[in-house]
Amino acid sequence: MPAKLSVNINKIATLRNSRGGNVPNVLQAAIDCQKFGADGITVHPRPDERHIRYNDVREIAPIITTEFNIEGNPKVDKFVQLVLDVKPAQVTLVPDEDRQLTSDHGWNTIKEADYLKQIIEVFKRAGIRVSIFVDPDAELVAAAADTGTDRIELYTESYAGNYISNKEQAIADYIKAAEMANEKKLGINAGHDLDRNNLRYFASHIPGLQEVSIGHALIADTLYYGLENTIQLYQQCLK
Ligand code: PXP
Repeated sequence: MPAKLSVNINKIATLRNSRGGNVPNVLQAAIDCQKFGADGITVHPRPDERHIRYNDVREIAPIITTEFNIEGNPKVDKFVQLVLDVKPAQVTLVPDEDRQLTSDHGWNTIKEADYLKQIIEVFKRAGIRVSIFVDPDAELVAAAADTGTDRIELYTESYAGNYISNKEQAIADYIKAAEMANEKKLGINAGHDLDRNNLRYFASHIPGLQEVSIGHALIADTLYYGLENTIQLYQQCLK
């Protein structure tokens, strides 16, 4: 089974917010991404709502025909409430700070084990699959298994950054982390800075990869190729 492609539509909301009004229409973009072959829609509401807004998330939920993935920091109470109200297929827990430019680290699954266990249980009790964002470190992945999470999302920024200079070295820790996840029976997602150049190699070398969520590069590519072609191009990389 190829990994699923979940399209992160935050950047479409960022463009809309830069002007006020409703252009481009984020709800329509979510509908169209699915029509054009996305396997899921990802949103990452941040407390300052500078990208996708909490209200967008509530409006998008009913039009999802694929899988809805909501990312965010569960230490923000209104994020937890939003996820419990919307009941997406998956919540991805990310330890990002308020006003952080973008996510830049995974959970310390050893130090934060007790906290993660408790909050993961809240979402699982509501029937929501849980994934937690982690750096490519086999020890942290092993500890993730003790938190009760269903999946991990491997933070792929360092892979993407080092891919051009040495792809074998860039992916080595990710393969070890994935092997540990497989041993511990954790599902594997991945995301951050994946693009048309580095995606195929990643997807074909990570054993058991189930889903990638991609926003920035994919939405940037739509300027040249359009949304439908771009989604198809990314899907080709996963085949
Ligand atoms: N996964 C997480 C946890 C993220 O925070 C982001 C960015 O919002 C992504 C994946 C997608 O990263 P990119 O926009 O670089 O594709």
